[in-house]
Amino acid sequence: MKEQQTVRALEALKHAIDFLAGLGIEEAKEEARAILKDGLGIDTLVLYRDNPPLSSEDIRKLNGILERRKRREPLQYILGFVWFYGLKIRVGSGSLIPRPETEILVKEALALADKFRTGGKSENEGRRISVLDLCTGSGAIALALAKNLPEAAVTAVDISEDALAWAEKNRELNGAENVRLLKGDLFGPVGQMRFCIITANPPYIKDRLIESLEPEVSCWEPRMALSGGETGLAFTEDIIREAPEHLEPEGYLLMEMAGGTDTGLLAGMAAQSGLRMENIIKDMAGWERVFIARKPDSK
Ligand SMILES: C[S@@+](CC[C@H](N)C(=O)[O-])C[C@H]1O[C@@H](n2cnc3c(N)ncnc32)[C@H](O)[C@@H]1O
Repeated sequence: MKEQQTVRALEALKHAIDFLAGLGIEEAKEEARAILKDGLGIDTLVLYRDNPPLSSEDIRKLNGILERRKRREPLQYILGFVWFYGLKIRVGSGSLIPRPETEILVKEALALADKFRTGGKSENEGRRISVLDLCTGSGAIALALAKNLPEAAVTAVDISEDALAWAEKNRELNGAENVRLLKGDLFGPVGQMRFCIITANPPYIKDRLIESLEPEVSCWEPRMALSGGETGLAFTEDIIREAPEHLEPEGYLLMEMAGGTDTGLLAGMAAQSGLRMENIIKDMAGWERVFIARKPDSK
């Protein structure tokens, strides 16, 4: 689209939809609307009501965004943020883009935290709820829990310096003072600490499948955030094995998993480590998505 042209917003919208559809992007309409709204700052109501003319700066921006999409850079990286559980989470190179299905894990963790507070064993009542979020990435899960449980102390761990830099930005952006971020390998940075709730969305893609994912994922998102080894279960297994040492009695482990994971295998791993599998929650597409296990009371 030429910068010197007089272009109105609806024409630019159509141009963006056609361009994106031409690249084979399925959600071309939704993306085009998001580009006008969040990339150019044209409110959707104003777009349809006033159909305002675009400035040459707007046209330049639009062309720049579409060029980046042509290289299959994820739109969320280009716009710089995503909404997650009602929070604005900034993302970019070095952080996995939080997915809507991960909100299921947050919802379940919040429901369990509530039970912990009001219906748990008397020894747990009155204590500050402690939460550990492993593999925190942008910090999405940790921040959603921290904002909804202001009385909780949330610890979030990631091994990637880049991911932690995004998590820190998001902690500041969302004013979550009850979150502390630690760098390291899984439970490494928390020593002997125990938590009421442990959450994790670990890397769980089988290595051989990564190249077959859409380019937005395989070429742009950090491999370290995707790769779950040959079976996809490398981190899942380690987390289940080590979780009992870091859970309070009756504490919960909630972990996201790949659709199609053998849940019998997970139940076996849990039993072997001394956890009791409590539930498997499916996502909207019907895939098993969140694994929930509990550490039995020590008595
Ligand atoms: C699938 S992403 C999840 C990010 C975020 N929790 C979310 O749900 O959007 C997995 C994260 O695990 C981190 N990671 C990979 N290996 C790790 C390890 N050994 N210890 C801690 N974090 C690790 C990656 O850097 C990445 O941020």
